[in-house]
Amino acid sequence: MTRTRLTPVEAVPENGSFLFTVSERDGTEEEVILVRCTPDTPPGGVEEPTVRAWRNACQHETDQRLDRGFGAAVRDGEVVCPKHGSMFDSCTGYCDTGKAAESYLSAVDVEVDDGAVYLTDPEVEYSHDGGLDDDDDDDDGPSSTSHLSF
Ligand code: FES
Repeated sequence: MTRTRLTPVEAVPENGSFLFTVSERDGTEEEVILVRCTPDTPPGGVEEPTVRAWRNACQHETDQRLDRGFGAAVRDGEVVCPKHGSMFDSCTGYCDTGKAAESYLSAVDVEVDDGAVYLTDPEVEYSHDGGLDDDDDDDDGPSSTSHLSF
């Protein structure tokens, strides 16, 4: 399985999101957000925060971005839509109230391994950090070498 290293887990804010862009199979580019997911701690268990990836689109109006380039609003484990305030569970993507009620965010497969987040979804390919407008092909700086597929 090919996977692409995206970022250290610490770079995913606890009350925000890490934005990147992928290419879908049909060649279109889509924004994706990484958010922290902290499942309920089992009695006596150890809390193990992990990370989920969701396409950056509200399910009420899919052209509405959750992260508008400066981090999504995440409160008490829920991603808040900036337009009408629907709240999506960071771990499951489910919205139970508001205009987007009974919908799920569109998931992208990622995994956490040894403190880093990897893109593992066979349906998409990593394109670049940031949103659709942040592609900077002229940037040959070190960030372009930090996303190795193997
Ligand atoms: S666009 Fe997100 S709740 Fe309406």
